[in-house]
Amino acid sequence: MRFDIPSRVTVVEVGPRDGLQNEKIPVPTADKAAFITALADAGLTQIETSSFVHPQAVPQLADAAEVLASLPARPGVTYSALVPNTKGYERAKEAGIKRIAVFTAASETFAKRNINMTVAESLEAFAPVVRAARADGVSVRGYLSTCFVCPFEGDINKRRVLEVAQALLDLGVQEVAISDTIGAAVPSDVVETVGFLLQSIPRERIALHFHDTYGTALANVAIGLQLGITTFDASAGGLGGCPFAPGAAGNLATEDLVYMLDRMGIHTGVNVAKVTAAAERMQSLLGRRLPSRQLQRLHRVAEST
Ligand code: COA
Ligand code: ZN
Repeated sequence: MRFDIPSRVTVVEVGPRDGLQNEKIPVPTADKAAFITALADAGLTQIETSSFVHPQAVPQLADAAEVLASLPARPGVTYSALVPNTKGYERAKEAGIKRIAVFTAASETFAKRNINMTVAESLEAFAPVVRAARADGVSVRGYLSTCFVCPFEGDINKRRVLEVAQALLDLGVQEVAISDTIGAAVPSDVVETVGFLLQSIPRERIALHFHDTYGTALANVAIGLQLGITTFDASAGGLGGCPFAPGAAGNLATEDLVYMLDRMGIHTGVNVAKVTAAAERMQSLLGRRLPSRQLQRLHRVAEST
């Protein structure tokens, strides 16, 4: 049987941002920096470090500038941060950021609850941010939340996803992260929606961002690979969730994604054992077991010896 899949994949590590924004226990700045550094040591080249959002909206990440200032410059590694508006961009720029992520949603209700704007308003608000970033030589990713299912509106129409994804690209965003914010999507959803997007958008401009609420994230990645997608988001340990999407689980765990890609012969440059070790240290700091399969396996090994 022919099974056409890419030979190389970029794993975008979002644990320090998407993960830690949802953890109740505040993580000290120095520990965040050590976590990010360990992830870079593990071979991750794209790491979303924090958010320059309103410090009261996400207090866990209020130390974004301090985290960035504590990171060693490392050739080949890009540290990015989430930015919700011009004010956030100014803070990010002052912190020396080279890549930002803006974010909107395919669902109106989700956009309103998350960023207090309609989708149209958010696109308008991001236009000057993206323009300024590109003029400053800062690259831009655009997150599109709730591309499959919205916690408030239910199933999302693929035409709406295309419309907003295209609007983000038209603003000058280089990559759109098609996100399953609540982790509800299953392989047939990915075929349907991402397959539809690929009729209009080049595959290298699309990244896939899955959460693992129902354990379908890796199955969704397998479909993404068959569709030719080469950028996938994940978080070490499977940290996190979304404070604006009750019940959502963390992202697909980086080490579980890389384990699968390794076995499939797909190059990522990421070392599973090193990511797992970084996740384990974060797990001790948080004082709760993280969902990653690699971590669970380690616990079983430890308990059986
Ligand atoms: N950083 C710091 N302060 C900010 C800010 C930012 N990025 N954006 C706005 N502010 C400040 C403004 O300066 C203003 O302060 P003032 O009252 O002292 O003048 C105040 O916040 C209100 O500004 P406004 O533009 O009305 O923002 P808002 O209250 O409508 O909030 C967001 C909008 C987007 C900034 C806020 O909802 C947010 O940060 N949400 C985070 C969403 C998120 O991270 N979701 C998770 C990712 S999926
Ligand atoms: Zn997410």
